[in-house]
Amino acid sequence: MMKIIVTGSLGNISKPLTELLVAQGHSVTVISSNPEKKAVIAQLGATPAIGSITDTPFLTETFKGADALYVMIPLSFTEPDLGAYMRRAAGSYIQALSEAKVKRVVVLSGWAADLVKAENVEHLFDRLDTSLTIMRPASFYTNFYQSIDLIKGKGLMGKLLTLRYNGLWALLTGKTGLLMGNYGGDDRIVFVSPIDIANAVAEELLLLPEKKTIRYVGSEEMTCNEAAQIIGTAVGKPWLRWVLLTDEEMLRGLKMAKVPEKLAKTLVEMQAATHSGKTMENFHRANPKMGKVKLRDFAKEFAKVYHQK
Ligand SMILES: NC(=O)c1ccc[n+]([C@@H]2O[C@H](COP(=O)([O-])OP(=O)(O)OC[C@H]3O[C@@H](n4cnc5c(N)ncnc54)[C@H](OP(=O)(O)O)[C@@H]3O)[C@@H](O)[C@H]2O)c1
Repeated sequence: MMKIIVTGSLGNISKPLTELLVAQGHSVTVISSNPEKKAVIAQLGATPAIGSITDTPFLTETFKGADALYVMIPLSFTEPDLGAYMRRAAGSYIQALSEAKVKRVVVLSGWAADLVKAENVEHLFDRLDTSLTIMRPASFYTNFYQSIDLIKGKGLMGKLLTLRYNGLWALLTGKTGLLMGNYGGDDRIVFVSPIDIANAVAEELLLLPEKKTIRYVGSEEMTCNEAAQIIGTAVGKPWLRWVLLTDEEMLRGLKMAKVPEKLAKTLVEMQAATHSGKTMENFHRANPKMGKVKLRDFAKEFAKVYHQK
């Protein structure tokens, strides 16, 4: 039995990770910034620790006596400078880890990490005197939840965009809705289930490699339009397409959605790296074993959420 700390509250990866580790008999502490999550965390059989990942004394205290730690830095859509925020959060983790002397650390990163230099904080963890693994998952299935309104063709923006990209046909047939991004169309992408990531993180937390390791995680590879068809079919819109925008169009869209400018540029840069095929090259070079949860499995969960909204 190990004492394991999970950050990321009951998020997409951290919830199934906590459930798995508790089922394996480990003593698990879950960090959340929201005191209202205490009861749910306890119900899962874990110990809640309420505080912020940018609060170094809180982290140091929480990490004391732990054997292993899963580190994630939640994405913030309100921080004007994503890179500065990522470095601040990583610095807080690193200082607390050095003081608490945790032996095993598994850090969540992403498959575009070494292509988006300013926001890549992976290398900062190298200075730790600890067994270190960096997780580089591909594009999460759960990202589709952010597109529910677009898929529904809901609101003026959704309708206008559908008309703009699907033309008069959408207006005449009432077949509204689309997915979009500055990767899309027939770009081939690896998608990943957070459950497969949680399984991979759980495996890694129990290992103790001497040298730093990097592990890519994916569940299924397909084109964006194939993914749109699977998601669309699950919600009764088999015509759904994934429109490929230019970087400029994507940037304009994010600005209209009031995403801070620097963050918007980062998101566009990340997606552009994916559109260029560079993230796929890195993934294929690493040649990881694919996870078990396929997009059709996720699409059933997605449809439930879609119809409730
Ligand atoms: N989306 C993708 O395709 C993709 C691809 C590769 C990598 N990633 C990485 O995956 C990460 C997201 O993982 P996820 O989806 O499992 O997480 P998630 O579902 O977004 O959950 C993260 C949780 O962290 C907690 N949190 C937020 N700020 C906090 C703070 N200051 N202190 C303590 N806890 C805080 C929040 O819960 P509380 O309110 O309870 O605190 C939040 O729900 C991102 O950081 C991203 O870089 C994403």
